[in-house]
Amino acid sequence: MTELLTITEASLWASNHLNKNVTTSNISYLIQYGKVKKYKDNGTTAINKYDLISYYKSFNGQREAEWREKLGKDLNWALSFDNLKEKDTTKHIHRLHPYKGKFIPQLVEYFIDDHTDNFKTETYFKKGDIILDPFSGSGTTMVQANEQGMHAIGIDISAFNSLIANVKIGKVDFKDLNNEIKKITITLKEFISKNKNTQFEVELLEELNIFNKRYFPSPGFKIKVRKKEIIEREYTPEKESEFSKTFEKLRKKYKLELKHYKSSNFLEKWYLEPVKNEIDFTFERLKKVKNSTTKKIITIILSRTIRSCRATTHADLATLKKPVTKTYYCRKHGKICKPLFSMLSWWERYSKDTVKRLYEFNNMRSNTYQNCLQGDARNIDIFPELENKNPEFAKLAIKQKIKGIFSSPPYVGLIDYHEQHAYAYDLFGFKRNDKLEIGPLYKGQGREARNSYIDGISQVLNNSKQYLQDDYDIFLVANDKYNMYPTIAEKSGMKIINQYKRPVLNRTEKNKSAYAEIIFHLKKK
Ligand SMILES: C[S@@+](CC[C@H](N)C(=O)[O-])C[C@H]1O[C@@H](n2cnc3c(N)ncnc32)[C@H](O)[C@@H]1O
Repeated sequence: MTELLTITEASLWASNHLNKNVTTSNISYLIQYGKVKKYKDNGTTAINKYDLISYYKSFNGQREAEWREKLGKDLNWALSFDNLKEKDTTKHIHRLHPYKGKFIPQLVEYFIDDHTDNFKTETYFKKGDIILDPFSGSGTTMVQANEQGMHAIGIDISAFNSLIANVKIGKVDFKDLNNEIKKITITLKEFISKNKNTQFEVELLEELNIFNKRYFPSPGFKIKVRKKEIIEREYTPEKESEFSKTFEKLRKKYKLELKHYKSSNFLEKWYLEPVKNEIDFTFERLKKVKNSTTKKIITIILSRTIRSCRATTHADLATLKKPVTKTYYCRKHGKICKPLFSMLSWWERYSKDTVKRLYEFNNMRSNTYQNCLQGDARNIDIFPELENKNPEFAKLAIKQKIKGIFSSPPYVGLIDYHEQHAYAYDLFGFKRNDKLEIGPLYKGQGREARNSYIDGISQVLNNSKQYLQDDYDIFLVANDKYNMYPTIAEKSGMKIINQYKRPVLNRTEKNKSAYAEIIFHLKKK
């Protein structure tokens, strides 16, 4: 059966069919990735409604039922937030800098705001309360507390994570920020104009476009691979080496040196030389910025820029494997891609984006106080540390005490929180505290690692308790596959009074199988 719909018609039809907003770009994505076939109808792109029906049947509606079957009937589907779009979960400052392991702002909102429903039958926080996040990470809890008119204190062992969080939540001098960004961009452009790398890149891109159109048409190529009309592992190395001749020719024409160091120094290993020179140049300019808040914001922009410019394939951005110094076949995009030879475009894009996001948040922020303290949550003296930062707020905190915690502790053996930002530690020279991370990936998930995790998290809760009101409420988001949280609660003199089971749909990992995390609600025993 065939009933052709334009992309706009398909988005309207699908929104109606699924009872949620399906945008035209969602539909284009399905076409681009060969999930539904592309037709031409009077010259415009169209798709067959029945292809869409079978795609959604095979996947979407079935998922909730299947997951409940696998993960238990007490799965709270409302906490999947499957109605949200990416732009909601990365709203305003939540996308100032990548950070692996953050939770979505709406999850925090759900627990700290003043709504109730069938699952959350009471409210726990009110305006003016102080919330603590002893594993603050990129600061999601602090930002949401601000949105809800609540104060918040964060703690993180990583200097760089604390910086991300404090930049998000800090007040901004926009005039100074815009001025400094402009100055750096002008001098960076001057610096680049003396080199040939951008011209090289422009010509390379032109050649690549021609080559890709011919040998990797979209979506035709991916469809042929799926239908096994093209054997990907034979075809792609052939084409990769064919294009590398053009690449070499251009490289020689522009006399571009792409030296590659087998260094343990992150910057030398993971950046092509022209990019590294631009990074060093920009960092020197950054050092001259006088206003410390502006300087911190620009540090985050530069860090975000260099993260996008690492000499890696698009598929390995999250987990670096091997430095890439020339064009390569990219599995993610199904065509020949290239590493970056200049950071300018990312620098300009992220500068604009950061200022825009900070403005957006500035226009809605409440007049409350948030700060992330850098330290080990197992033993940090929270109130004395606050006194150094803001004596007036410290007075309020000592008098009022903290109402509760909303936090996602590291999960045992899953992520190395310092290592994920190795480029930033290397460039900016922040002190690393890897050894003080609780449950890092490098220690694994063995018995010893699990015992030390239990001790670590209970020490954090015991330390935090001193600063909490008696009737505190603690919410911990955890992937407790080893069932450690009952012991942690016991060791912390607390009891688990409720558990919310949340389906996690938008996992970035390749593994998309049914998966739930638990939000533990703890109170004084
Ligand atoms: C799961 S992440 C938190 C993410 C956060 N909820 C967000 O949305 O960005 C856990 C954080 O705990 C921090 N951490 C690990 N060990 C710590 C310790 N001993 N003291 C304080 N923070 C620690 C890590 O650096 C990491 O940023």
